[in-house]
Amino acid sequence: MTHIPVFLTAEKHHILIVGATSAAMAKVALFLNTGIRITLVGHGTQEAASAAGLTDDITGNAALSVQDRPFTNDDLNDKTLVYIGVEDDITEERVLRLATTRKMSVNVIDKPAKSNFITPAQFARGPLQVAFSSGGVAPVFVRRLRSSLERLLPPSLGVLAAAAGNVRGRIKTLIPDGTRRRLFWDRLYDNAGTYADMNQNDVEKLVVEAARNHRVGATVGQVQLVGAGPGDPDLLTIKAHRALQQADVIVYDRLVSRDVLSLARRDADLIFVGKREGEHGVGQEGIHEILIREALAGRRVVRLKGGDPLLFARAGEELDALRKEDIHVEIVPGISAFQGIAASAQIPMTDRAHSSSLTLVTGHLQDGAFKDWARLSGEGQTLAIYMGVKGAPRISAGLIGEGVASNTPVAVVENGTRANERRFYGTLETLPDVVSENAVKSPALLLIGDVVQCARDLNLNEYEPLLQAVSA
Ligand SMILES: C[S@@+](CC[C@H](N)C(=O)[O-])C[C@H]1O[C@@H](n2cnc3c(N)ncnc32)[C@H](O)[C@@H]1O
Repeated sequence: MTHIPVFLTAEKHHILIVGATSAAMAKVALFLNTGIRITLVGHGTQEAASAAGLTDDITGNAALSVQDRPFTNDDLNDKTLVYIGVEDDITEERVLRLATTRKMSVNVIDKPAKSNFITPAQFARGPLQVAFSSGGVAPVFVRRLRSSLERLLPPSLGVLAAAAGNVRGRIKTLIPDGTRRRLFWDRLYDNAGTYADMNQNDVEKLVVEAARNHRVGATVGQVQLVGAGPGDPDLLTIKAHRALQQADVIVYDRLVSRDVLSLARRDADLIFVGKREGEHGVGQEGIHEILIREALAGRRVVRLKGGDPLLFARAGEELDALRKEDIHVEIVPGISAFQGIAASAQIPMTDRAHSSSLTLVTGHLQDGAFKDWARLSGEGQTLAIYMGVKGAPRISAGLIGEGVASNTPVAVVENGTRANERRFYGTLETLPDVVSENAVKSPALLLIGDVVQCARDLNLNEYEPLLQAVSA
């Protein structure tokens, strides 16, 4: 480690910023309204401040003194930190030498080798402050990290954290049990968005009210049913990402990609409940037992499902089982396979020239399966068929049997949105061959309808035969 992170107590420090450059003004803007005293010195500082849009901030600001004149040695008196943001090397060297002789903390802006401290990338949410540094080695990475964390922590978190600090004692009286109290705070911070645009007083009242309700008939357990999306981790929602990073236990199945799982907290327990080839898996009842057991043990449980958790995912049964145990459930939606695949193949699913409806269907042709092909055969329909690989011949025959044109375009997309995505095209008639000749495996989605001809691949020569078939 080359640098040591510390947080300075703002009211006990006084910063000197030397220079009338935009870099110097950026430092002024960074520290304005933090409670720290700032003296800005340099010829042309008034003009530079107004060019940086700071005029309103500095007028009448008791914590900031702007001295529009050259630096003098006495400017260093009573200051603890110095930032140098000048354009001429002679002044830079002079201020640096004088400050170093006095053993002060000096930062020559954008010149870490000359500085004895650096300013981290940072952002704040009320009393919560987050600062990052790579010791100057990877600034771009640090910027990316900051922006992803900024997105994870909603702005309303600041007001909530300040309010929580004020009512902490009352909450302890209302919820004396430590585990329940921790869960109460967890849930509160999860829902920070609820407190957006409220003033702190109102938030304090609501937090106390929530604690009262939490005490009455409170349950310990909580489960989030989270949509993992079709595979590309960039397609996770911010809320799903946050849930993954907070979960103590993640119960996941086969469709959840490794890339998504790798976003879980390092010490989280990952429990696989899918079926592997030739194995039975724990079964739906087994999944309920695990969810209930972990939630009642006071752990934060994420039930992670591929795509959207409410589409073809047996969420209803899990919700019933959890509600029976009075376990708090939250649903975090995900991008379903049809959406991810429509995006990667660039198929406008309800393109008005071709389609006025989109139907999501399971192609699972066992027990209680959908066999009413007549209902799916109307004009101008787009069908997205999940779990339809094995049943492709029956789906093809069923739809053609109900009068759907045999040259209706079809896309078959395997491992949609993942690095190993494969896309194939054909017609309703050739669908079974497309699946068997390319040895398409699950997970794969079938898209059927005239909109498929808008797919980006269909401009390519290799799909000429399909285009001909479609226009025949
Ligand atoms: C049990 S369903 C789950 C659907 C999921 N809840 C959703 O909203 O996408 C499983 C089926 O979804 C489709 N599927 C899920 N992820 C997919 C992917 N990455 N590529 C292609 N099809 C996918 C396949 O048809 C697969 O057989």
